[in-house]
Amino acid sequence: MADAPLNFAVVGCGALARAQHIPNLAASDRCVLHTCCDLSDAALAECRDVHGAKHLSRDWREALRNPEVQAICLATTERLRLPVIQLAAELGKPIYVEKPLATELAEAYEIQRVVHASGIPFCVGHNRRNSPAMIDAQRIFRQHMESPRPCPWRWDREGADRPPLPEDGVAQFCCRINDDWYSWKSWVFDPTQAPHGPMLFEMTHFTDLCNWFLAAEPVEVMAMDSGMLNHAVIIRYATGELATISLCANGTFGYPKELYEAMGNGGIVVVDHMCEIRTAGIADAPGRRTYPFLRDRHPALGQEGGIAGWLAKKRAACADVVRTGNPLDQFTAEPDKGHAHALDRFVDQIQGHGPEVCGIDAAVLATRVAFAAIRAAAEHRPVLLEEI
Ligand SMILES: NC(=O)c1ccc[n+]([C@@H]2O[C@H](COP(=O)([O-])OP(=O)(O)OC[C@H]3O[C@@H](n4cnc5c(N)ncnc54)[C@H](O)[C@@H]3O)[C@@H](O)[C@H]2O)c1
Repeated sequence: MADAPLNFAVVGCGALARAQHIPNLAASDRCVLHTCCDLSDAALAECRDVHGAKHLSRDWREALRNPEVQAICLATTERLRLPVIQLAAELGKPIYVEKPLATELAEAYEIQRVVHASGIPFCVGHNRRNSPAMIDAQRIFRQHMESPRPCPWRWDREGADRPPLPEDGVAQFCCRINDDWYSWKSWVFDPTQAPHGPMLFEMTHFTDLCNWFLAAEPVEVMAMDSGMLNHAVIIRYATGELATISLCANGTFGYPKELYEAMGNGGIVVVDHMCEIRTAGIADAPGRRTYPFLRDRHPALGQEGGIAGWLAKKRAACADVVRTGNPLDQFTAEPDKGHAHALDRFVDQIQGHGPEVCGIDAAVLATRVAFAAIRAAAEHRPVLLEEI
């Protein structure tokens, strides 16, 4: 018999929750959008009128304690994390928590302690791990790193005379993030809300992906930043592998936001904006694969899909804005960044049908790497993870 749908309470019904978690829960036949909790009456009214929330609340303790509520999605800004997780743990209720896990490391460690002690299913919203393109790319890359499938045409100039370098095959993972800070909302600049800026609240997405793709222990971090908008981070792993993260918020939404390139063992796997992956040098791996878009307002354009298709749709959407004057019209054909799949896979985990999605230990590790980068940039020196 199929499992009954789970009653979710969403705490914090702001921009992200109303764009992703709330409609995703409402659309899922495995979940019920049982309660929406926020301090804003306007947000709550939208949750009821647009998304069909069954119950509304301004008090998260009351929402969690409702015996009908079986699971929680916490999507307030990171100013509110530990108290909600503590109550969920006391009540034995699974909880999905938006990133970043906490604003300070001490709180992250306390959350880790509470989650381990209670044993509740726990998931952090590093949603990219659940993007269909990312899942394929990570699987192809890990398979190639663990059981290399070299291509038959690699140019091995020296053959048997090639020197035996110990780093032969060792991987590197590069993340390039093109963002536009003019789109950011005001709390991002408020040090009481986001004391470490994008180096924490954006960076944990990417440190998490580096850890996931390289599947090794991060040991050292170097970083520079220009303040809030430009960041360059290098992570060294115990395997000798390197990850680089380059984040620029003086970029443009007119071009894909994210490019990931994983290289090793004479092969490469590229994830372009989570709508296309490309590989080379890996025997039998698909050279190019494209993924469906979400909310495509320009289905007649760019029918080749992937990046070329996305760019055609995006150009048309940007032209729409010039006509309509509404900057939100530039969004079309969004890549699937895995938000809906993350909740779906978390339900699998809760119901005992699937593995941990992004658990507390992975999230704490990603947070520690981000804090090592924050310290490295502030102190202009490489920082060892063991210092953090
Ligand atoms: N995973 C992603 O892709 C992604 C994207 C954007 C934001 N985020 C994260 O999601 C979180 C929310 O971001 P946002 O952009 O939606 O912010 P937001 O400011 O739009 O929303 C936060 C909401 O929480 C509500 N809130 C605050 N205190 C509350 C309380 N005590 N009880 C109930 N509700 C309360 C606010 O009224 C607001 O509606 C942040 O931590 C952010 O880092 C994640």
